[in-house]
Amino acid sequence: SADQERLDLLKSKIGEYPNFPRDGILFKDIFTAFRDGKVCVATKHLMLNYIRKNHPSVEVVVGLDARGFLFSFMIASELEIGCVPVRKKGKLPGETTKVEYALEYGTDVFELQTDSIKAGQKVIIVDDLLATGGSLKAATELVRKAGGVVQECIVVLELQGLNGRKNLDVPVFSFIQYD
Ligand code: PRP
Ligand code: MG
Repeated sequence: SADQERLDLLKSKIGEYPNFPRDGILFKDIFTAFRDGKVCVATKHLMLNYIRKNHPSVEVVVGLDARGFLFSFMIASELEIGCVPVRKKGKLPGETTKVEYALEYGTDVFELQTDSIKAGQKVIIVDDLLATGGSLKAATELVRKAGGVVQECIVVLELQGLNGRKNLDVPVFSFIQYD
């Protein structure tokens, strides 16, 4: 199918950087793929086709700072729904809700503007990558605190070896999986 060809193209163009950010890690780099405009267009169609089919009544798309923003605004503008950022601490004005999340060493804080989602709104959360799931778990918590209903988390790449989806109590969809 056309979407299978888009997926194969995207997958073939994902960059691989051994020993980044540390020895022993094979870093999958989505930005390498997006150097090619055809891959940008293919990724856009892939994501929109999936969301139109599976979430026809979604009302808000939440993107995670920073790489999730690539997708959240694109999706919002095509579906004519709002997009809302979850940002790393200290970046958002106004009243915010905060949730601490685990990093490999220590913790960080994600924030959401308190009035950015209305009670009962149907939300999807998008990001580039699922690793440990700590980021999406925190984002899910923030959306719920604001009263939003998380329908699904959608990522482009999933590192299955880390089993991040077991940390999440919402459905997760990934386009490309690595062991
Ligand atoms: C990366 C990636 C995901 C997150 C996944 O973001 O873009 O957001 O890690 O990891 P997790 O599943 O273990 O939480 P990072 O925090 O490196 O920042 P960036 O998006 O600003 O580059
Ligand atoms: Mg990120």
